[in-house]
Amino acid sequence: MDYTLHQRGRASVEFLVDLGIEAVRLEKTADEYAEAAGLTTVELPEDLDELQAKVTPVMQDCLDFRIFRVVREWQLDQHGLIAMDAFDEMRPDIETMIQALQEGPTRIQYAQNLKAPDYWDGYEFHRSAGGWGGHDCMGFVHGEIIHRKMVSNHLADVIMGQRRAAAKMPPVENPEKILDMGCGSAQYTQGLAEAFPDAEIWGCDLSSRQLEEAQRRANEKGLTWHLFEAAAEDTGLESNQFDLVTSYAIFHEFPSSVAREVLQETLRLLKPGGVTLMGDVKAYHAHDDYNRWKADFLNQIHGGDPFWREYATTDLATMATEAGFVEAEWFGVGDNQYPFVLIAKKPDERKTT
Ligand SMILES: C[S@@+](CC[C@H](N)C(=O)[O-])C[C@H]1O[C@@H](n2cnc3c(N)ncnc32)[C@H](O)[C@@H]1O
Repeated sequence: MDYTLHQRGRASVEFLVDLGIEAVRLEKTADEYAEAAGLTTVELPEDLDELQAKVTPVMQDCLDFRIFRVVREWQLDQHGLIAMDAFDEMRPDIETMIQALQEGPTRIQYAQNLKAPDYWDGYEFHRSAGGWGGHDCMGFVHGEIIHRKMVSNHLADVIMGQRRAAAKMPPVENPEKILDMGCGSAQYTQGLAEAFPDAEIWGCDLSSRQLEEAQRRANEKGLTWHLFEAAAEDTGLESNQFDLVTSYAIFHEFPSSVAREVLQETLRLLKPGGVTLMGDVKAYHAHDDYNRWKADFLNQIHGGDPFWREYATTDLATMATEAGFVEAEWFGVGDNQYPFVLIAKKPDERKTT
Protein backbone atom coordinates (compact mmCIF):
# COMPACT_ATOMS: atom_id res chain seq x y z
CA MET A 1 0.00 0.00 0.00
CA ASP A 2 1.43 3.35 -1.01
CA TYR A 3 1.28 6.10 1.63
CA THR A 4 3.44 8.75 3.23
CA LEU A 5 3.47 9.57 6.92
CA HIS A 6 2.88 13.21 7.76
CA GLN A 7 5.41 15.46 9.49
CA ARG A 8 4.73 14.69 13.15
CA GLY A 9 4.13 10.96 12.67
CA ARG A 10 7.18 10.54 10.43
CA ALA A 11 9.43 12.41 12.87
CA SER A 12 8.23 10.34 15.85
CA VAL A 13 8.50 7.04 13.96
CA GLU A 14 12.04 7.92 12.80
CA PHE A 15 13.03 8.85 16.35
CA LEU A 16 11.72 5.50 17.58
CA VAL A 17 13.68 3.65 14.86
CA ASP A 18 16.89 5.53 15.82
CA LEU A 19 16.26 4.70 19.43
CA GLY A 20 15.88 1.04 18.45
CA ILE A 21 19.34 1.10 16.83
CA GLU A 22 20.76 2.65 20.01
CA ALA A 23 19.00 0.00 22.13
CA VAL A 24 20.69 -2.77 20.11
CA ARG A 25 24.09 -1.13 20.74
CA LEU A 26 23.40 -0.82 24.48
CA GLU A 27 22.22 -4.43 24.66
CA LYS A 28 25.50 -5.57 23.08
CA THR A 29 27.53 -3.62 25.63
CA ALA A 30 25.43 -5.13 28.41
CA ASP A 31 26.15 -8.60 26.96
CA GLU A 32 29.88 -7.83 27.07
CA TYR A 33 29.48 -6.78 30.70
CA ALA A 34 27.73 -10.09 31.44
CA GLU A 35 30.58 -11.97 29.79
CA ALA A 36 33.22 -10.06 31.79
CA ALA A 37 31.21 -10.76 34.97
CA GLY A 38 31.40 -14.51 34.20
CA LEU A 39 27.65 -14.91 33.57
CA THR A 40 28.19 -16.66 30.24
CA THR A 41 30.57 -19.29 31.61
CA VAL A 42 29.32 -20.23 35.09
CA GLU A 43 26.47 -22.65 35.52
CA LEU A 44 23.32 -20.72 36.48
CA PRO A 45 20.17 -22.01 38.24
CA GLU A 46 17.77 -24.12 36.15
CA ASP A 47 14.74 -22.76 38.02
CA LEU A 48 13.65 -19.56 36.25
CA ASP A 49 12.77 -17.57 39.37
CA GLU A 50 16.13 -18.48 40.94
CA LEU A 51 17.81 -17.56 37.64
CA GLN A 52 16.18 -14.12 37.74
CA ALA A 53 17.16 -13.63 41.38
CA LYS A 54 20.78 -14.52 40.61
CA VAL A 55 21.46 -12.64 37.35
CA THR A 56 19.30 -9.50 37.57
CA PRO A 57 21.16 -7.84 40.50
CA VAL A 58 24.50 -8.41 38.72
CA MET A 59 23.19 -6.76 35.55
CA GLN A 60 21.69 -3.85 37.46
CA ASP A 61 25.28 -2.82 38.26
CA CYS A 62 25.90 -2.23 34.54
CA LEU A 63 25.09 1.35 33.54
CA ASP A 64 24.51 0.48 29.87
CA PHE A 65 22.07 -2.23 30.91
CA ARG A 66 20.14 0.26 33.02
CA ILE A 67 20.04 2.77 30.13
CA PHE A 68 19.01 -0.03 27.76
CA ARG A 69 16.10 -0.79 30.08
CA VAL A 70 14.98 2.84 30.17
CA VAL A 71 15.11 3.09 26.36
CA ARG A 72 13.27 -0.20 25.90
CA GLU A 73 10.65 0.68 28.48
CA TRP A 74 9.94 3.95 26.69
CA GLN A 75 9.75 2.18 23.30
CA LEU A 76 7.32 -0.43 24.64
CA ASP A 77 5.20 2.19 26.28
CA GLN A 78 5.09 4.57 23.34
CA HIS A 79 5.26 2.63 20.07
CA GLY A 80 1.53 1.84 19.84
CA LEU A 81 0.57 5.40 20.76
CA ILE A 82 2.99 6.87 18.21
CA ALA A 83 1.76 4.50 15.51
CA MET A 84 -1.93 5.29 16.17
CA ASP A 85 -1.16 9.01 16.21
CA ALA A 86 0.81 8.77 12.94
CA PHE A 87 -2.17 6.97 11.38
CA ASP A 88 -4.73 9.52 12.58
CA GLU A 89 -2.61 12.38 11.26
CA MET A 90 -2.60 10.97 7.71
CA ARG A 91 -6.06 9.38 7.91
CA PRO A 92 -7.76 11.87 5.50
CA ASP A 93 -5.23 10.91 2.77
CA ILE A 94 -5.63 7.15 3.00
CA GLU A 95 -9.12 6.47 4.28
CA THR A 96 -10.60 6.16 0.79
CA MET A 97 -7.86 3.76 -0.29
CA ILE A 98 -8.33 1.67 2.86
CA GLN A 99 -12.07 1.43 2.31
CA ALA A 100 -11.62 0.58 -1.37
CA LEU A 101 -9.34 -2.35 -0.49
CA GLN A 102 -12.05 -3.88 1.65
CA GLU A 103 -13.92 -4.46 -1.59
CA GLY A 104 -12.62 -7.32 -3.70
CA PRO A 105 -12.39 -11.09 -3.89
CA THR A 106 -11.39 -11.59 -0.24
CA ARG A 107 -14.25 -11.37 2.25
CA ILE A 108 -14.36 -11.69 6.01
CA GLN A 109 -16.89 -13.81 7.79
CA TYR A 110 -17.52 -11.97 11.06
CA ALA A 111 -18.56 -14.10 14.02
CA GLN A 112 -21.96 -13.61 15.62
CA ASN A 113 -21.66 -13.30 19.40
CA LEU A 114 -18.04 -14.41 19.66
CA LYS A 115 -16.98 -14.10 23.28
CA ALA A 116 -13.27 -13.30 23.29
CA PRO A 117 -11.43 -15.67 25.65
CA ASP A 118 -10.12 -14.26 28.94
CA TYR A 119 -6.46 -14.97 28.05
CA TRP A 120 -6.79 -12.68 24.99
CA ASP A 121 -9.35 -10.03 25.86
CA GLY A 122 -7.88 -6.79 27.16
CA TYR A 123 -4.22 -7.84 26.96
CA GLU A 124 -1.79 -5.51 25.24
CA PHE A 125 0.53 -8.15 23.79
CA HIS A 126 4.05 -6.90 23.07
CA ARG A 127 2.85 -3.92 25.13
CA SER A 128 1.41 -2.31 21.98
CA ALA A 129 -1.07 0.29 23.26
CA GLY A 130 -4.50 -0.70 22.00
CA GLY A 131 -3.66 -4.42 21.77
CA TRP A 132 -4.91 -6.15 18.60
CA GLY A 133 -8.15 -4.22 18.29
CA GLY A 134 -7.94 -0.90 20.16
CA HIS A 135 -8.20 1.38 17.11
CA ASP A 136 -10.69 1.22 14.25
CA CYS A 137 -7.75 0.59 11.86
CA MET A 138 -5.54 -1.40 14.27
CA GLY A 139 -4.64 -3.89 11.50
CA PHE A 140 -3.09 -1.12 9.42
CA VAL A 141 -1.55 0.52 12.49
CA HIS A 142 0.08 -2.74 13.54
CA GLY A 143 0.84 -4.43 10.22
CA GLU A 144 2.01 -1.32 8.39
CA ILE A 145 3.24 1.29 10.84
CA ILE A 146 4.56 -0.88 13.69
CA HIS A 147 5.81 -3.83 11.64
CA ARG A 148 6.97 -2.19 8.45
CA LYS A 149 7.98 1.31 9.48
CA MET A 150 9.25 0.70 13.01
CA VAL A 151 10.41 -2.90 13.40
CA SER A 152 11.50 -3.99 9.93
CA ASN A 153 13.45 -0.80 9.54
CA HIS A 154 16.11 -1.69 12.07
CA LEU A 155 15.68 -5.46 12.01
CA ALA A 156 16.38 -5.71 8.26
CA ASP A 157 13.12 -7.30 7.18
CA VAL A 158 13.34 -9.90 9.93
CA ILE A 159 9.57 -10.03 10.27
CA MET A 160 8.75 -10.96 6.68
CA GLY A 161 12.00 -12.84 6.01
CA GLN A 162 11.44 -15.31 8.83
CA ARG A 163 7.81 -15.82 7.92
CA ARG A 164 8.60 -16.40 4.24
CA ALA A 165 11.24 -18.96 5.20
CA ALA A 166 8.86 -20.76 7.59
CA ALA A 167 6.10 -20.78 4.96
CA LYS A 168 8.35 -22.85 2.67
CA MET A 169 9.07 -25.47 5.34
CA PRO A 170 5.92 -27.61 5.67
CA PRO A 171 6.62 -31.07 4.22
CA VAL A 172 3.52 -31.14 2.05
CA GLU A 173 3.29 -31.29 -1.72
CA ASN A 174 0.78 -29.23 -3.66
CA PRO A 175 -1.66 -28.68 -0.79
CA GLU A 176 -5.17 -27.92 -2.01
CA LYS A 177 -6.34 -26.23 1.17
CA ILE A 178 -4.39 -24.38 3.87
CA LEU A 179 -5.58 -22.83 7.14
CA ASP A 180 -3.46 -20.12 8.81
CA MET A 181 -4.59 -19.89 12.44
CA GLY A 182 -4.18 -16.46 14.08
CA CYS A 183 -3.27 -14.99 10.70
CA GLY A 184 -3.41 -11.42 12.08
CA SER A 185 -2.60 -8.88 9.39
CA ALA A 186 -1.36 -11.70 7.11
CA GLN A 187 2.41 -11.29 7.37
CA TYR A 188 2.79 -15.10 7.36
CA THR A 189 -0.26 -15.74 5.16
CA GLN A 190 1.44 -13.79 2.38
CA GLY A 191 4.44 -16.13 2.62
CA LEU A 192 2.09 -19.13 2.39
CA ALA A 193 0.35 -17.67 -0.66
CA GLU A 194 3.76 -17.22 -2.34
CA ALA A 195 4.99 -20.69 -1.39
CA PHE A 196 1.75 -22.41 -2.43
CA PRO A 197 0.20 -20.22 -5.15
CA ASP A 198 -2.34 -22.86 -6.20
CA ALA A 199 -3.69 -23.57 -2.72
CA GLU A 200 -6.98 -22.28 -1.35
CA ILE A 201 -6.01 -20.12 1.62
CA TRP A 202 -8.09 -19.79 4.77
CA GLY A 203 -7.20 -17.57 7.73
CA CYS A 204 -8.80 -17.02 11.13
CA ASP A 205 -8.11 -14.64 13.99
CA LEU A 206 -9.82 -13.42 17.14
CA SER A 207 -9.21 -9.84 16.03
CA SER A 208 -11.50 -8.54 13.29
CA ARG A 209 -9.34 -5.38 13.04
CA GLN A 210 -6.30 -7.52 12.12
CA LEU A 211 -8.36 -9.59 9.67
CA GLU A 212 -9.37 -6.36 7.91
CA GLU A 213 -5.71 -5.60 7.18
CA ALA A 214 -5.25 -9.19 5.92
CA GLN A 215 -8.25 -8.61 3.67
CA ARG A 216 -6.74 -5.40 2.27
CA ARG A 217 -3.44 -7.13 1.56
CA ALA A 218 -5.17 -9.95 -0.28
CA ASN A 219 -7.45 -7.63 -2.25
CA GLU A 220 -4.51 -5.42 -3.21
CA LYS A 221 -3.03 -8.46 -4.97
CA GLY A 222 -6.38 -9.69 -6.29
CA LEU A 223 -6.18 -12.82 -4.13
CA THR A 224 -9.20 -14.74 -2.86
CA TRP A 225 -8.67 -15.78 0.74
CA HIS A 226 -11.35 -17.05 3.13
CA LEU A 227 -10.96 -14.99 6.29
CA PHE A 228 -13.07 -15.56 9.35
CA GLU A 229 -13.26 -14.35 12.91
CA ALA A 230 -12.78 -17.29 15.27
CA ALA A 231 -10.59 -18.76 17.97
CA ALA A 232 -8.03 -21.22 16.68
CA GLU A 233 -9.15 -23.75 19.30
CA ASP A 234 -12.77 -23.57 18.17
CA THR A 235 -13.02 -22.73 14.47
CA GLY A 236 -16.47 -24.18 13.88
CA LEU A 237 -15.26 -25.62 10.54
CA GLU A 238 -15.98 -29.10 9.25
CA SER A 239 -13.49 -31.87 10.01
CA ASN A 240 -10.94 -33.52 7.67
CA GLN A 241 -10.66 -30.80 5.05
CA PHE A 242 -7.19 -29.19 5.16
CA ASP A 243 -3.88 -30.48 3.83
CA LEU A 244 -1.94 -28.01 5.98
CA VAL A 245 -3.01 -26.25 9.18
CA THR A 246 -0.37 -23.80 10.27
CA SER A 247 0.38 -20.71 12.35
CA TYR A 248 3.15 -18.26 13.12
CA ALA A 249 3.74 -16.45 16.41
CA ILE A 250 0.49 -17.31 18.14
CA PHE A 251 1.44 -20.06 20.62
CA HIS A 252 3.33 -17.66 22.93
CA GLU A 253 0.08 -15.68 23.29
CA PHE A 254 -1.96 -18.33 25.08
CA PRO A 255 -1.60 -20.72 28.04
CA SER A 256 -0.57 -24.32 27.40
CA SER A 257 -4.13 -25.54 28.12
CA VAL A 258 -5.20 -23.57 25.02
CA ALA A 259 -2.15 -24.77 23.03
CA ARG A 260 -3.40 -28.31 23.67
CA GLU A 261 -6.89 -27.41 22.43
CA VAL A 262 -5.45 -25.72 19.33
CA LEU A 263 -3.52 -28.89 18.48
CA GLN A 264 -6.65 -31.02 19.00
CA GLU A 265 -8.63 -28.70 16.72
CA THR A 266 -5.81 -28.83 14.16
CA LEU A 267 -5.89 -32.63 14.17
CA ARG A 268 -9.65 -32.56 13.65
CA LEU A 269 -9.43 -30.16 10.71
CA LEU A 270 -6.63 -31.94 8.86
CA LYS A 271 -7.27 -34.59 6.26
CA PRO A 272 -5.74 -37.99 7.15
CA GLY A 273 -2.04 -37.67 6.35
CA GLY A 274 -2.26 -33.86 6.54
CA VAL A 275 0.52 -31.80 8.06
CA THR A 276 0.82 -29.08 10.66
CA LEU A 277 3.58 -26.51 11.09
CA MET A 278 3.37 -24.14 14.05
CA GLY A 279 6.21 -21.57 14.17
CA ASP A 280 6.99 -19.37 17.15
CA VAL A 281 9.76 -17.89 19.29
CA LYS A 282 12.78 -19.80 20.55
CA ALA A 283 12.31 -22.39 23.29
CA TYR A 284 14.22 -21.66 26.49
CA HIS A 285 16.16 -24.95 26.39
CA ALA A 286 17.83 -23.77 23.14
CA HIS A 287 19.34 -20.73 24.91
CA ASP A 288 22.50 -20.78 26.98
CA ASP A 289 21.86 -19.84 30.64
CA TYR A 290 22.55 -16.11 30.24
CA ASN A 291 20.35 -15.73 27.16
CA ARG A 292 17.63 -17.78 28.83
CA TRP A 293 17.69 -15.24 31.65
CA LYS A 294 17.57 -12.39 29.11
CA ALA A 295 14.67 -13.83 27.07
CA ASP A 296 12.69 -14.39 30.26
CA PHE A 297 13.59 -10.98 31.74
CA LEU A 298 12.66 -9.03 28.60
CA ASN A 299 9.55 -10.94 27.56
CA GLN A 300 7.98 -12.65 30.55
CA ILE A 301 8.95 -10.29 33.36
CA HIS A 302 9.02 -6.92 31.58
CA GLY A 303 7.34 -7.61 28.23
CA GLY A 304 3.65 -7.71 27.46
CA ASP A 305 3.34 -11.46 27.07
CA PRO A 306 2.02 -13.22 30.17
CA PHE A 307 2.28 -16.71 28.63
CA TRP A 308 5.77 -16.41 27.07
CA ARG A 309 7.50 -18.52 29.74
CA GLU A 310 4.77 -21.13 29.67
CA TYR A 311 5.08 -21.52 25.90
CA ALA A 312 8.90 -21.46 25.88
CA THR A 313 9.13 -24.27 28.44
CA THR A 314 6.44 -26.58 27.01
CA ASP A 315 7.54 -29.38 24.72
CA LEU A 316 5.18 -29.00 21.77
CA ALA A 317 6.30 -32.28 20.16
CA THR A 318 5.16 -34.21 23.24
CA MET A 319 1.94 -32.22 23.37
CA ALA A 320 1.26 -32.93 19.68
CA THR A 321 1.95 -36.64 20.14
CA GLU A 322 -0.42 -36.73 23.11
CA ALA A 323 -3.04 -35.01 20.94
CA GLY A 324 -2.77 -37.86 18.39
CA PHE A 325 -0.20 -36.58 15.85
CA VAL A 326 2.65 -38.76 14.60
CA GLU A 327 6.23 -37.92 13.56
CA ALA A 328 6.10 -34.79 15.76
CA GLU A 329 9.27 -32.71 15.97
CA TRP A 330 9.81 -29.34 17.67
CA PHE A 331 13.11 -27.72 16.79
CA GLY A 332 14.93 -24.44 16.19
CA VAL A 333 15.64 -23.38 12.61
CA GLY A 334 19.19 -22.60 11.45
CA ASP A 335 22.23 -21.52 13.46
CA ASN A 336 20.20 -19.12 15.58
CA GLN A 337 17.56 -21.78 16.26
CA TYR A 338 14.93 -19.17 15.42
CA PRO A 339 12.03 -19.59 14.95
CA PHE A 340 11.10 -22.82 16.70
CA VAL A 341 8.76 -24.95 14.61
CA LEU A 342 6.51 -27.85 15.43
CA ILE A 343 6.04 -30.16 12.45
CA ALA A 344 3.71 -33.14 12.83
CA LYS A 345 1.39 -35.34 10.79
CA LYS A 346 -2.14 -36.58 11.22
CA PRO A 347 -2.10 -40.39 11.01
CA ASP A 348 -3.51 -41.81 7.81
CA GLU A 349 -5.31 -44.97 8.90
CA ARG A 350 -6.03 -45.93 5.29
CA LYS A 351 -2.27 -46.47 4.84
CA THR A 352 -1.75 -48.66 7.90
CA THR A 353 -4.62 -51.11 7.37
C1 LIG B 1 1.92 -12.01 16.98
S1 LIG B 1 0.45 -11.98 16.03
C2 LIG B 1 0.91 -13.03 14.68
C3 LIG B 1 0.08 -12.78 13.45
C4 LIG B 1 0.50 -13.54 12.22
N1 LIG B 1 0.36 -14.96 12.39
C5 LIG B 1 1.91 -13.18 11.82
O1 LIG B 1 2.71 -14.07 11.65
O2 LIG B 1 2.22 -12.00 11.70
C6 LIG B 1 -0.66 -13.01 16.95
C7 LIG B 1 -2.07 -13.08 16.38
O3 LIG B 1 -2.71 -14.22 16.93
C8 LIG B 1 -4.03 -13.89 17.25
N2 LIG B 1 -4.48 -14.84 18.25
C9 LIG B 1 -4.03 -15.01 19.51
N3 LIG B 1 -4.66 -16.03 20.10
C10 LIG B 1 -5.54 -16.52 19.19
C11 LIG B 1 -6.49 -17.59 19.19
N4 LIG B 1 -6.66 -18.37 20.25
N5 LIG B 1 -7.22 -17.80 18.09
C12 LIG B 1 -7.08 -17.02 16.99
N6 LIG B 1 -6.20 -15.99 16.93
C13 LIG B 1 -5.43 -15.76 18.01
C14 LIG B 1 -3.96 -12.44 17.72
O4 LIG B 1 -5.22 -11.83 17.66
C15 LIG B 1 -2.94 -11.88 16.72
O5 LIG B 1 -3.55 -11.39 15.56
